[in-house]
Amino acid sequence: MCGIVGYIGGKQASPILIEGLQKLEYRGYDSAGVAIYNDGEIAVQKYKGRLKVLEEHLEKKPIPGSVGIGHTRWATHGEPNDLNAHPHITTDGHIALVHNGIIENYTRLKEWLIEEGKIFKTETDTEVIVHLVDYFYEGDLEKAVRRAIGKMEGAFALGVISKNEPEKIVSVRKDSPLVVGIGKEENFIASDIPALLKHTKEVYFLDDGEMAVLTEKDIAIYDEFGQPVEKEPFTVTWDVSSAEKEGYEHFMMKEIHEQPKAIRDTLSPRLNDRNMVEIEEFNLSREDIQRIDKIMIVACGTAYHAGLIGKFAIEKFAKIPVETDIASEFRYRDPFVNEKTLFIAVSQSGETADTLAALREAKRKGARTMAITNVVGSRVSREADDVYYTWAGPEIAVASTKAYTTQIVAFYTIALDLGLKLGTLKEETYHQIIKELLTFGEKTEALLQYKKDIQFLADAQFNNTSAFYIGRGIDDAVAREGSLKLKEISYIHSEAIAAGELKHGTIALIEDGTLVVALTTQDRLYDKMLSAIKEVKARGAYVIAVAKEGNQDIQKEADAVMSIPDTYDELTPILSVIPLQLLAYYIAVARGCDVDKPKNLAKSVTVE
Ligand code: G6P
Repeated sequence: MCGIVGYIGGKQASPILIEGLQKLEYRGYDSAGVAIYNDGEIAVQKYKGRLKVLEEHLEKKPIPGSVGIGHTRWATHGEPNDLNAHPHITTDGHIALVHNGIIENYTRLKEWLIEEGKIFKTETDTEVIVHLVDYFYEGDLEKAVRRAIGKMEGAFALGVISKNEPEKIVSVRKDSPLVVGIGKEENFIASDIPALLKHTKEVYFLDDGEMAVLTEKDIAIYDEFGQPVEKEPFTVTWDVSSAEKEGYEHFMMKEIHEQPKAIRDTLSPRLNDRNMVEIEEFNLSREDIQRIDKIMIVACGTAYHAGLIGKFAIEKFAKIPVETDIASEFRYRDPFVNEKTLFIAVSQSGETADTLAALREAKRKGARTMAITNVVGSRVSREADDVYYTWAGPEIAVASTKAYTTQIVAFYTIALDLGLKLGTLKEETYHQIIKELLTFGEKTEALLQYKKDIQFLADAQFNNTSAFYIGRGIDDAVAREGSLKLKEISYIHSEAIAAGELKHGTIALIEDGTLVVALTTQDRLYDKMLSAIKEVKARGAYVIAVAKEGNQDIQKEADAVMSIPDTYDELTPILSVIPLQLLAYYIAVARGCDVDKPKNLAKSVTVE
């Protein structure tokens, strides 16, 4: 959470910082600010509210200067207000810094710094850092920052400037992301690549404890002991347009439409020319696999929901027992994990704090670890033994869409591979499933054609105060994702419940007009779902069903139907989630919500 940027070069820093922050707003958007060195002084402007507020102020009162740092915040310590917004600056104004992360021992440090005579003005943990750097400053900013971080516990990515050394930006990270952008006669820092893409595709990823010192012409990188480090630059393969809306009103809609391509891009590199799964990054032999007695899939939010489908697919195709867990729970429940466990962490961003902590815990207990992530070079990708990248391209909207469908594709390929190697899946079935998966680009494209029908349904339902999503088997997992989509972007109270559980309590909440979204894609469980639909309809619910096309019967039972192309029951989640994404989207738009930046949320949650 929180996005940081920094610029040093020959151009005006202010517009570059603002443009960079625009690309990072998904990380937090409750306040924003910049600090720019100009004419012997550091000028700071920072305001509560969206980045637009800061932009308006800067238009009225521009800050000239070509060295600066910027920040967009998701509050953790101290409410979102002008004072708590970053950058933070020393009392005498000679050092300013931006921070992403959390300083866990900040209370102790604060007490000590107060004793040392420092005056605190904000409720943030970050102000501790600025005073610490100031405390250690003896004319060498790198040294002061290094000594300061030696005292800090927690996670941080920092951008620091000083008016005494205006020719540099000092940047350092631990457990929070930071990329250094390599320009010509100009250099950059940012929390994420999209903020840099307009200027450069050449970047350095800093490792934990590493420090980058940027000047206009040079970037020097040092390890945690201050020794110079030689780093290979990484060339970003996506272009600027991947991080632009390209004519769509919201990133979420653009990303929903990118799913056919993302699904193909995730699947095709994992198939060889005989259409057999070959996951280069995950090369477990038959013997390795036979040693595994359990798989654990751990994640948060939408990624966790993808993990539920992963469990289903692996158990079905490979007959290996799979446990799923929410990362924040896993880390504190002393789970049974050992050398025979294959641990799979799923994370779009690859930087979710709980998922990362769970991964570390599993490693500590001896598990073989794998990450399914979308972000190259992310924390989990570096720490896991194996990495499976979902090549979905940057996902900017807070509500995850294409990351989810591609995570499911990843699980199918893993499950198929394990199943074939273990002999638990017939070769014929294996080939049929792959053949079917190869049609999913087309099938998802076809589904998107019906978006206007879904908008029509949404326009009739947007005033609901609560909704229930029901399903059985694999549909239950998709129902959870559909429900999460609705609540996170439309703020309608929404609950997902296994349809068979309805009668054990939740049905008490169904009344006239209550919206119930019923997933009915599993042929084997269809009759059971029908009973659930009848039960809620008898209590006045308005039922929208998701069903395979060609199911005539459901037309008579539900009030409205969102159809998906026919496919094997095992594969429906990739298709059935799409109408649910669209329904949530259009309901949120009809309610006038800020779809891409829902209140109180952030895309990557790097705090516990
Ligand atoms: C946040 C986002 C969700 C996301 C979850 C896990 O809560 O708003 O959309 O599913 O984090 O993120 P990850 O990057 O680990 O998949």
